[in-house]
Amino acid sequence: MCGIVGYIGKEQAAPLLLEGLSRLEYRGYDSAGVAVYSQREGRLNVHKAKGRLKILSGLLGGGDAVEGTVGVGHTRWATHGAPSDENSHPQVSRSGKIAVVHNGIIENYGELKAFLQSQGVPFASETDTEVVAHLVEYFQQDGADILTAVGRCLHRIEGAYALGIISADAPDQLIAVRKDSPLILGYGEGCSFLASDVTAILQYTRRVSYMDDGELAVLTRDGIQCYNHLMQPVEKEICAVDWEIGAAEKGGYEHFMFKEIMEQPEALRRAVFPRIRDGEVFLEDFSLPEDYIRSLRNIHIVACGSSYHVGMVGKYNLEKMLRIPVEVSLGSEFRYMDPIVDGKTLVVVISQSGETLDTMAALREARRRGAKILSIVNVVGSSIARESDQVLYTWAGPEIAVATTKAYTTQLAVLNLLGLYLAKVLGSMAAEDRREVLKDFLSLPEKLERVLENKDGIQYFASQYFNRDSVFYIGRNIDYALGLEGSLKLKEISYVHSEAYASGELKHGTISLIEPGALVIALGTCLRLFDKAMSNIVEVKSRGGDVLALTTESRADEMAKTASGVIAIPDAHPMLLPLLGAAPLQLYAYYVALMRGCDIDKPRNLAKSVTVE
Ligand code: G6P
Repeated sequence: MCGIVGYIGKEQAAPLLLEGLSRLEYRGYDSAGVAVYSQREGRLNVHKAKGRLKILSGLLGGGDAVEGTVGVGHTRWATHGAPSDENSHPQVSRSGKIAVVHNGIIENYGELKAFLQSQGVPFASETDTEVVAHLVEYFQQDGADILTAVGRCLHRIEGAYALGIISADAPDQLIAVRKDSPLILGYGEGCSFLASDVTAILQYTRRVSYMDDGELAVLTRDGIQCYNHLMQPVEKEICAVDWEIGAAEKGGYEHFMFKEIMEQPEALRRAVFPRIRDGEVFLEDFSLPEDYIRSLRNIHIVACGSSYHVGMVGKYNLEKMLRIPVEVSLGSEFRYMDPIVDGKTLVVVISQSGETLDTMAALREARRRGAKILSIVNVVGSSIARESDQVLYTWAGPEIAVATTKAYTTQLAVLNLLGLYLAKVLGSMAAEDRREVLKDFLSLPEKLERVLENKDGIQYFASQYFNRDSVFYIGRNIDYALGLEGSLKLKEISYVHSEAYASGELKHGTISLIEPGALVIALGTCLRLFDKAMSNIVEVKSRGGDVLALTTESRADEMAKTASGVIAIPDAHPMLLPLLGAAPLQLYAYYVALMRGCDIDKPRNLAKSVTVE
């Protein structure tokens, strides 16, 4: 979603801001802008353009046409007001002296706008953000300095926001504010940075701190001072980021998504191997007491998007391993559904970014009801990680493509490891059964490499079916959960209409849509239900539909007798098969999108990290 970069230092700011924004492109956006203070002119120069960042960069000669060593930049994902030059950020105050970039939503902007208009303030955009620029200026009427005015403004605005503010009257500082929307501070030599995402500033500094909710920071060339909501100074811990810059670059691949699909075996090794020792699971820094685990009545998994689909697989596996009820809820539903959650519920929050607003709100709701929170997160230091009682990182490395792949797979792996750990404490699974799963776990990366080697076979199937307008994914049990993810991948990046159904539901409606030309992707990796999967394939075929099937190597020949095409994955423990089955579905979606000429890494209307409701 929207991205923020800010810089104050000795270098020219604009090229640096544009470079930083280019690193945030993956988050999804529809327009971009920068505001830079020119010492010579004694004013802010603001440049904005609808569309891709390269349009703005082209207008500004890559930034060389803009003079000044302090500024803020933004990529906008429209919420209030259509994508346009006027609605792009930075938004400026009436005098043009204050410029604001904002991620999130100012919920009471209507009321504030009416108030400001009654004071004669003209508005130039339809955004909620513009009220912040005007309000700060309004609060300076009595001569207050920028910091005081921003502080007053924060008492009036409601909603979620990360703000970067620059004032022509105080050009030796940048102001950053955070509430419910991530913001990172970067410490350089003679310079300071702010960013919504560490990737934006990684090439300039690896020393960062994470702002907490309600904090305000003043950035200067000499350092950064943070304040809490009472404007009392706070000391921030400075962390060293150890992500390789190369990990956030394409490294010769045409698309980040393809690169990240191919990185999955390695990502799995990182997520799994250090956590299995001598045939047992070891979860680093695990601090939930065993008595507490034994007292659990239920587990509630909360997540959005693909992370929710991981939770769906988790429900099947965890209930099998633990024999206690496991519920899965979408973050956006959980927060409003009066959930049955209390001190005897472990809430497992799953999020790649650790910043999804609905998931975060669900986490807070669960905590309010007395539950402990265990999160499975990829981004170290993210908001969800920091607000959880226990964090298990997925160690997938930076994921840049909007459509998640390696984060999904590693989330699945970590959730299974968690299940095995809890099963040991609860004594709900025989030791040899646990060992059997763990043994298979260790062979997964190598098996996944074999799956990926078959990419040409999957490309062939994509070439056969890429022009189908509607695709149905069917499967039972864990295959149903996997189908949900396969279907999401396809629609996200190729814009092909697709839906996933539990196979048993075919006869309750969906089958009326099966006619010649319909494509059904039938998942049959759950071998105890293999015969059922075969019957469903026959039903589809006899109505003229084409069936592309996914099963294990041991049953591939049998399935090939009925299906139009078969993709085989290596056999493995039933609970682990989705870890192998996801990759062919990701590759299928990738190749279909490629053949349909789609913008794979940045699909229309989507954002990598959804930080608004
Ligand atoms: C967006 C992304 C999805 C992701 C979902 C949840 O929609 O495009 O790939 O699954 O957000 O994100 P999270 O970071 O919480 O896993």
